[in-house]
Order: sequence, then C-alpha cells, then structure tokens
Amino acid sequence: MTDIKKGLAGVVVDYTAVSKVNPETNSLLYRGYPVQELAATQPADAVAYLLWNGELPTAEQLEAQREDGRPWRALAPEVKAAIDALPLDSHPMDEVRTAVSVIGALDLAGIENVLDAVGTVEQNRERSLHLYAALPAIVAYGQRRRHGLEPIEWREDLDYAANFLWMTFGEEPDPLVVDAFNRSLVLYAEHSFNASTFTARVITSTLSDLYSAVVGAIGALKGPLHGGANEAVMHIFDEIGEASNVVPWLDEALASKRKIMGFGHRVYKRGDSRVPTMQAAFYSLVEHYDRADIRELYDTLEGEFVGRKGIYPNLDYPSGPAYNLMGFDTLTFTPLFVAARVVGWTAHIMEQMAANALIRPLSEYNGPDERHIEGYVADT
Ligand code: CMC
Repeated sequence: MTDIKKGLAGVVVDYTAVSKVNPETNSLLYRGYPVQELAATQPADAVAYLLWNGELPTAEQLEAQREDGRPWRALAPEVKAAIDALPLDSHPMDEVRTAVSVIGALDLAGIENVLDAVGTVEQNRERSLHLYAALPAIVAYGQRRRHGLEPIEWREDLDYAANFLWMTFGEEPDPLVVDAFNRSLVLYAEHSFNASTFTARVITSTLSDLYSAVVGAIGALKGPLHGGANEAVMHIFDEIGEASNVVPWLDEALASKRKIMGFGHRVYKRGDSRVPTMQAAFYSLVEHYDRADIRELYDTLEGEFVGRKGIYPNLDYPSGPAYNLMGFDTLTFTPLFVAARVVGWTAHIMEQMAANALIRPLSEYNGPDERHIEGYVADT
C-alpha cells in the first residue's frame, strides 16, 4: 500500500532560511528573530527588509528601501481602472488579485520570450518591493470605493502602518491603533510553508514569474481554512451577536459539525505562537474604543470552545475583531493579510528561484481499470 500523505500533513518538502515554526516550543522565528520581539520593536517595513535580505536594516538601509518604493505607492491609473471595472460588490480579494495581475502584466509587457519573464535577482527584489509598496493603496482604495470615496495619497511623514490607516480612513491615526496594526502586519508577514506560500513556490518552480506566483498565492489565501478565516471570524461574531448567545450558538454549531473559524491549526496543536501578541493588541484596542462587549464575546467563545474541544485560537481569531475595531470592513480583512504576507511570499519565491527544483509530486491512481473506445482502430 502506498503511504498517502493527505494534505501533505507532516511532509517536509524543502529547506527554508526565511522562518522557523516550532510547535514544541510554540515559537516562530523570522530569520532567527522571535516574531514577538520584532512585532514589539520594528516597523513593518523593517521586518520586510529582514525577510527579504536576511538582516534587519540600518537606518540608512531602511531609508533607501523607502526611497526605492516611493514611485509605486500611488494607485497606478491602470490599476485603478481595472478595479473600477469590477462590480462594486465584488469581493475585495478578487480586486486585490486582479490588481496584482495588472501590475504584473504592465511590468512584464514587452518580454517576448517566456524564459526571460522570471527575471534576475535584482529585478525580483524590485518586483517584491513594488508589490509591497503598492498594496496599501490597492487595499485602501477597495474599501473606500465601496463607500463611494476617492483614493487618498500616501503621506511622507507617516510610516507604512500609519499610512495604510491614513489611506483607508483619511484621518490621522492614533498611535495606539498604529501600533496594534503594525503588530498585526508583522505577525502576518511570514509563516513558512503554509498553503499560500507553498502555492507561490509551486508556481515559481515552473520558472514562472513572481507576479504570477503572488496571484496564485492570493487565490490560496482567500479560502476560509487559510487567510479567509479572519473575515469568517467576524461573520461568526455577527451571527452570535453577544456573549450571552455563545453557549446555544456553539451547541448548535458543533451539533451540525461546523468548523469554528479562527480556531485550530495544522502545525500548532497547543496554541498559535502569534496569538498572545495579537490578543494583547486586541485588548488594548478594546480599552481604546471602550468596547468591553466585543471582548466579552471573544473571551466567552474562546473559553467555551477551548473547554469543549481543546482546540486553540489561531492568529485570525484576535486579528479579525481587532481589524473590526480599527474600522476596516469585514471583507477587507483578508486583503490586509495579503498586504502583510506578500513579504513572506516574495521572500520564498526568491529562495525557490535561488535553488529551484520543479515541484511535481506523485499520485496513486484509484480510477477505473484500463478500458477502450468501441470500434477504435489504432494508427499503424
Ligand atoms: N472547529 C471545529 N472543529 C475543528 C476545528 C475548528 N476550527 N479545527 C479542527 N477541528 C477538528 C476537526 O473537525 C477534526 O475533528 P475530527 O477528527 O473529529 O474529524 C480535527 O479537529 C482535526 O481537524 P482537521 O481539519 O482535520 O485538521 P487540519 O490540521 O487539517 O486543520 C485547520 C487545520 C486550520 C484547517 C482547521 O483547524 C480549521 O478548519 N480551522 C478553522 C479555519 C481557520 O481558522 N483557519 C485559519 C488557520 S491559521 C491561520 C491562517 O493560515 O490563516
């Protein structure tokens, strides 16, 4: 009998120097640094530099990266036109996927030989920074468009996280909110061979280009078993309404074998290493916005579900309601995850390119035995 590893569970498929997940010690290291330390001390774009280059930047290196990304921060007219061509009620993940595809098509225009699209190391660093710099404008515009609002320009005096909030809401963000948002961007930036990153690596392994790999990764992230869970958590909160409804709601959900979004993880079985940091940020937002009600619902659902099933929250559980408190539309939550995770995806894409092997696993056939078309005569 062939030993099938359904869902590739437990299969180690390659080396990576980008990050290390250790469920035994409940730790996550980015290039050797514990993610909690990075989230508490670094701006999101310094962590992007670390993930791409292997070391944290000096002040000059960070400034140079910011300077290099400057031309791409504005919403390009072609990208805006592509988003505007979509129905107003299209899912923001579809908008983001389309926008990245348009950026790729524009950047790769004129390349006539498919072998050249993969690009050099330098070109791929530039493409990674291009997407990272462009995504806040795309995601922010997606939310603004649904509210009938025009896009807002990047401000030179604000950092990456503060600009993201500024471009979405058009208001000077409170430092506590910026800090919570920055932490979420750092925590979401990278997580080894998760489904979307692996998708990006599979696409890269065919010698396709970085933009195609990111578009594929966005498709993988959209699913509620992966990134779509942060959106799905909020739908569950809306369904439950208030803490006093948790018990009957959970009784019914479990009786009908529903998956409770924001809980469980393929790798972590005793809790997600990123949750304590994001939960602390969520609690500080609860204080800031004086929303004890949402914390009560959050704590009650967690207590009940963990108590009954022994399955712990993952990062999407605190980040969903945290993004809600910040004012993001529920449908914008997973695009925020894209804007953060594009760093990890592109770091992995470049790592895959540097030591490539086509990813092409095998399958065990379990269809009909060989059979033949009646009357068919083989060519001689
Ligand atoms: N609610 C109810 N039951 C669950 C849940 C959950 N959230 N998670 C796992 N289980 C049960 C599952 O029903 C199964 O029970 P049984 O053995 O009786 O059939 C058992 O636990 C094993 O679950 P599994 O789905 O086979 O395990 P997996 O390793 O394939 O699943 C998971 C990991 C993340 C897909 C799953 O926990 C899940 O569906 N969670 C909800 C969606 C979610 O929050 N996704 C975000 C993942 S982490 C961040 C990210 O990548 O974005």
